[in-house]
Amino acid sequence: MSTHKDVKKITTNTLQKMKAAGEKISMLTAYDFSFAKLFDSAGIDIILVGDSASNVMAGHETTLPITLDQMIYHASSVVRGVDRCLVVVDLPFGSYQGNSKEALISAIKIMKETGGHSIKLEGGTEVVESVKRIVDAGIPVMGHLGLTPQSIYKFGTYTVRAKEEAEADKLRKDALLLQEAGCFALVLEKIPASLATEVSTSLSIPTIGIGAGNGCDGQVLVMHDMLGINVEFKPRFLRQYLNLHQQITGAVNQYIGDVKSGDFPNEMEQY
Ligand code: KIV
Repeated sequence: MSTHKDVKKITTNTLQKMKAAGEKISMLTAYDFSFAKLFDSAGIDIILVGDSASNVMAGHETTLPITLDQMIYHASSVVRGVDRCLVVVDLPFGSYQGNSKEALISAIKIMKETGGHSIKLEGGTEVVESVKRIVDAGIPVMGHLGLTPQSIYKFGTYTVRAKEEAEADKLRKDALLLQEAGCFALVLEKIPASLATEVSTSLSIPTIGIGAGNGCDGQVLVMHDMLGINVEFKPRFLRQYLNLHQQITGAVNQYIGDVKSGDFPNEMEQY
């Protein structure tokens, strides 16, 4: 299978070619310069500056409180760490809903002030007008369907979405609408794998799944979850690649012990 490992910069066009070639797309969230630099040099295809920053960076219970200016702070830090991958920045709650002009203004502010390459927003038919306006302004847009955390108070729960036929049908229609409106890719979050496969096959743009099975064109995870920094969150879809919680706790305990015992710094570690 051909790969796009040698591509100098990943663009939305590269992602389209990857889908056509059957090459899966890797995406991770990041929120700061150092991790973005690590993930980019490791070869990740896309970094998402997710509004999950509200949870994992700021400690809020939901993604709702994070502001546009806070997203801009995180995204501009990420962009400074990146040479190759595509950077997608979430439009936060309250910066686009119900007003396509405001959506466009928010998207332009993100592009101007962060140097990011594209934006992501949540929803289907409700945001199609905004998607069109933003795309018409030359800004690539990633859609997000299924479990859309900015609507958590409407859903009332973080369980799997679109299990019932009516909701699945709306999702199929929304996916097509978003593609027609000009989205370059779609995140499908926490929906049945069979539905995600069906939608991925029916679309010409790539889908990126989280809790949506293996039939998507790519996968995304929140970095704190896959690196085991946040070990309280253990959904079935998560594969944890490291236990940084344990490793960091061990290192910090050792450091505390070394400081308390006077072992650190030793002669070699002073001037
Ligand atoms: O904000 C985020 O991290 C996301 C991913 C879960 C897709 O939107």
